[in-house]
Amino acid sequence: MNFFKTIACTCLLSGFSLTLAAQSVPKASYDVVPLPKQVTLQQQWGDFTLTPTTRIVCGKSKADQENAKFLQQFVADRTGFTLPISNKRGKTPAIVLNSAEKGFSPEGYRLRIDSATVSIAASTKAGAFYGIQTLRKSLPHLSEKERAAMTKTGKIALPGVDINDAPRFAYRGTMLDVARHFATADSVKRFIDMIALHGINRMHWHLTDDQGWRIEIKQFPELTKIGSHRSATVIGKNTGKYDGKPHGGFYTQEQCKDIIAYAAARNIVIIPEIDLPGHMLAALAAYPHLGCTGGPYEVGQIWGVSSDVLCAGNPQTYEFIDKVLGEVAQLFPSNYFHIGGDECPKTRWKTCPKCQAMIQKNQLQAEGKHSAEERLQSYVIRHAENTLARYGKRIIGWDEILEGGLAPNATVMSWRGEAGGIEAAQSGHDVIMSPNTYLYFDYYQAKDAKQEPLAIGGYLPLERVYSYEPMPAALTPEQGKHILGVQANLWSEYFKTHRQTEYMALPRLAALAEIQWRPQGTRTYSEFLKRLPKLFKLYEEQNYNFAKHYYDIMPKYTAIAGGGIRANLQVNEPNDAIYYTLDGTMPTQQSTRYTQPLDFKSDVKFRAVAFHEVAPNQYQRSHVEKEDFHFSKSTARNITLVNEPHASYKFDGAKTLVDGLVASNTSYNSSRWIGFLEKPMEAIIDLGENTTVSQVAFNVCVEKGDWIYDARRVEIAVSTDGGKTWNTIVAKDYAPLTEADKNGIKPHVYDFAPTTARLLKIVAQPETSIPSWHQEAAGKQAFFFIDEITVN
Ligand code: ACM
Ligand code: ZN
Repeated sequence: MNFFKTIACTCLLSGFSLTLAAQSVPKASYDVVPLPKQVTLQQQWGDFTLTPTTRIVCGKSKADQENAKFLQQFVADRTGFTLPISNKRGKTPAIVLNSAEKGFSPEGYRLRIDSATVSIAASTKAGAFYGIQTLRKSLPHLSEKERAAMTKTGKIALPGVDINDAPRFAYRGTMLDVARHFATADSVKRFIDMIALHGINRMHWHLTDDQGWRIEIKQFPELTKIGSHRSATVIGKNTGKYDGKPHGGFYTQEQCKDIIAYAAARNIVIIPEIDLPGHMLAALAAYPHLGCTGGPYEVGQIWGVSSDVLCAGNPQTYEFIDKVLGEVAQLFPSNYFHIGGDECPKTRWKTCPKCQAMIQKNQLQAEGKHSAEERLQSYVIRHAENTLARYGKRIIGWDEILEGGLAPNATVMSWRGEAGGIEAAQSGHDVIMSPNTYLYFDYYQAKDAKQEPLAIGGYLPLERVYSYEPMPAALTPEQGKHILGVQANLWSEYFKTHRQTEYMALPRLAALAEIQWRPQGTRTYSEFLKRLPKLFKLYEEQNYNFAKHYYDIMPKYTAIAGGGIRANLQVNEPNDAIYYTLDGTMPTQQSTRYTQPLDFKSDVKFRAVAFHEVAPNQYQRSHVEKEDFHFSKSTARNITLVNEPHASYKFDGAKTLVDGLVASNTSYNSSRWIGFLEKPMEAIIDLGENTTVSQVAFNVCVEKGDWIYDARRVEIAVSTDGGKTWNTIVAKDYAPLTEADKNGIKPHVYDFAPTTARLLKIVAQPETSIPSWHQEAAGKQAFFFIDEITVN
């Protein structure tokens, strides 16, 4: 390699100064996110040279003028050049915008670059806007030094290219929750710019919830006077301790108009959400007569689902709905209006005389799979649908609106996985896919929650988001047409600042953008990763707070024959160096450098860090890869499960139970636990040879609010004849959990007289009927989550 370089240099020596000058011109590249449908480099067309005097040429239409200003701003942000805007083509090389050319799909565009012209053509303002965004993202990142030099040389090379693009889905959304934590109007605009950068065209604005009402309603002034403020917020996860700090804020209707226009200029339609009939505590605090009990109520200070909801038997509730929806509908030009409909407990309705009378009057008795109260909820949603239809709007609701029978023209936003979306599409309703299992950006981005800002839970790394395919295999092509698009949600319970919203959004929005834009079956995660660092530079230029897990170590731990665990570490950037320790101390660049897979045969406190060079001799540290391996007689042994875990909580399956890694918290989504529903957990471990054993232990996760309960019976049996006969050595029954029992990790430890075993069978029977004190889930089957079965 070195030899070749030397030769090459000698040959080129005569042209040395020329080469150097050419090399110093920064070059655009088209490795952008989302990657356009078709990018064809056209070397023979030559390079376009962008200079501070390059004109942006466009027509006099408002669309072209607005777009030209965006382009001017974007180029100035990236290069420092303020390009002149003109409606005369002239003879010098120019960027030509045209948003009124025939023949493009509604948001499609073509970006063509040759030595004379950068041409962005589309049939709509939106299409041209996306062409401009692609050009913006293609420009090279300039260091401070390069930028300074630019004022003298002022040249950027744009290689000849032919780009044709159009989005896969018409609905490309992101939801911003401003109810749990208020975002100022300026922050909302910053958010709009951020999603526009990613080619997103819908902002679903979650404006009301238990913890705050955020939009001025002229006919109900108390909604903002009282409902937009809470006197304190719970600390952490409903710890029972409060911060004592008032939190509040709302948008006047004038501010809303300003934000709507700001979004519209960026091809973003804002869909307002007024969440009803649940999630209404802030409204009830302002107007207590609208609740079943009459209150008094307080604006929510804790997170979760409130039992107090709108009284569906009170005629004044319907008047309230009509007036609020009427004002909001007239304010927002969007054809769609989100009416919420999620998480509305029926507890109050069951005992409220007014609600029960309403059920009688409208013959909403239980029918088929729908309870009377579910049908009452459907009655409220249909009412909202009819009201909004008078303003020319169609409703979107969370998938709970399926529960009492779907309103005739409703679009379903599928959040509890994809099942709601599939059911809705199969019954001919439109669907927006937003499954929490892939697109809830309030979930953790990394496995080790301790190294992350507090979040709601879950585990949604970038790769998992990217892997989402929104078209369910269960749908026929005809049914598939009902999938209008895809949306990610940013619930803000744990987003105390807008910086935190950005951190949770980025770079997962980049993955979302590719799901929304790229044609089906054309995405590859490894290829996407190659394009990310270029986008990161743009994030840095915009001072966005983005997560940097891209630079983290990607470990693979596998069992090795004969016992033991092999650690195989990888990083995305080939030049990043990994250093590690085995004693729990923090690795530095003086620790041992990782060069090949490591084998562990006994307890080890493994720590590894990757170092990424950001400037000469200046390094950015990755998060710490941190695993404590505990060895027992079962570690890395063969294990089989008689019943499969639940599909959503299978993760790596059986081997999770003998991987030497013990869950340290109840984050049951973290892949450290596996979860079962309806069937017992029945594991068979092969110890490899006849072995004396006297203890079996495992941990169970208990999160009662999430229907995750302890075992009701545990049996342990051993075999020395390949499973022909089993000798039961433990059989123990457990009482149901009580309301007073705490959530947490429940250790199960079983000691017995030393016994010889080759095979061990561990059976845990889950709770099959959640106790009656659990109002929502009483009588339902509970989940059973288990981790690490140790044998000694
Ligand atoms: C939701 O996450 N409650 C829609
Ligand atoms: Zn009621």
